Amino acid sequence: MNPDWWPLAGLRLQTPELELRLASPSDLDALASLAADGVHDPAVQPFAFAWTDAPPSGRALSTLQYQWTQWGAWKPERWSLDLAVVREGTVVGTQGMSARDFAVLREVSTGSWLGQAHQGKGIGTQMRAAVLHLAFEGLGAEYATSGAFADNHASLAVSRKLGYTEDGIERYVSRGKAVRSVRLRLDRQTWQRTRTVPVTISGLEPCLPMLGVNPGHRG
Ligand SMILES: CC(C)(COP(=O)(O)OP(=O)(O)OC[C@H]1O[C@@H](n2cnc3c(N)ncnc32)[C@H](O)[C@@H]1OP(=O)(O)O)[C@@H](O)C(=O)NCCC(=O)NCCS
Repeated sequence: MNPDWWPLAGLRLQTPELELRLASPSDLDALASLAADGVHDPAVQPFAFAWTDAPPSGRALSTLQYQWTQWGAWKPERWSLDLAVVREGTVVGTQGMSARDFAVLREVSTGSWLGQAHQGKGIGTQMRAAVLHLAFEGLGAEYATSGAFADNHASLAVSRKLGYTEDGIERYVSRGKAVRSVRLRLDRQTWQRTRTVPVTISGLEPCLPMLGVNPGHRG
């Protein structure tokens, strides 16, 4: 895609091991294949919207349609930036960051998944650190929030490692049962004190209007 018309296509986040970028058509194919191959043990359901309870072809389709929906619905006042995560040339998963009324609230929320084969290797921590850097350093955010079901130890561990603290609970229906989700919040000062993963951002400046950010009002 031509970044002149769709500036997000030129945005890149780089960590020691990963590149995060808006998915190209072939990245989308790779993400859909990862989803079809499986994102978690079928015995559990970590997502509030149980998209992974579908069969493989349904998970692939849902992955594609989710990405297209976010692009089509994009507004500076309400956006969801869902980046492909690439390690050694291979798409391994996706890291999302969304906001509403960012210009006023200065708050982002994140969500992510990795293909099962790529979990438990520190990638989840690095990719979350990458979008936190984008939020706090690149956009001047004051807060980042996240959430995970109380039995999602890997997701909760990533949040805790990166300095988030608990911020109450929410309750959802999952597979017909009530489940508890832990809300997490990270503030700018804590992020500045605890950040450990080096991240570089390129191609951000032309994206700022799309993200609802006035370049003069950052950080
Ligand atoms: C959640 C997810 C993105 C995390 O990514 P990841 O690459 O697996 O995470 P990392 O390897 O960076 O870190 C996982 C941490 O969880 C810890 N962890 C994993 N299972 C754990 C358990 N049962 N109890 C305690 N800690 C656990 C690991 O020890 C690690 O911490 P450490 O680095 O201090 O040892 C990934 O596991 C995933 O995609 N899961 C399925 C989908 C999902 O749950 N998405 C989030 C929905 S809220």
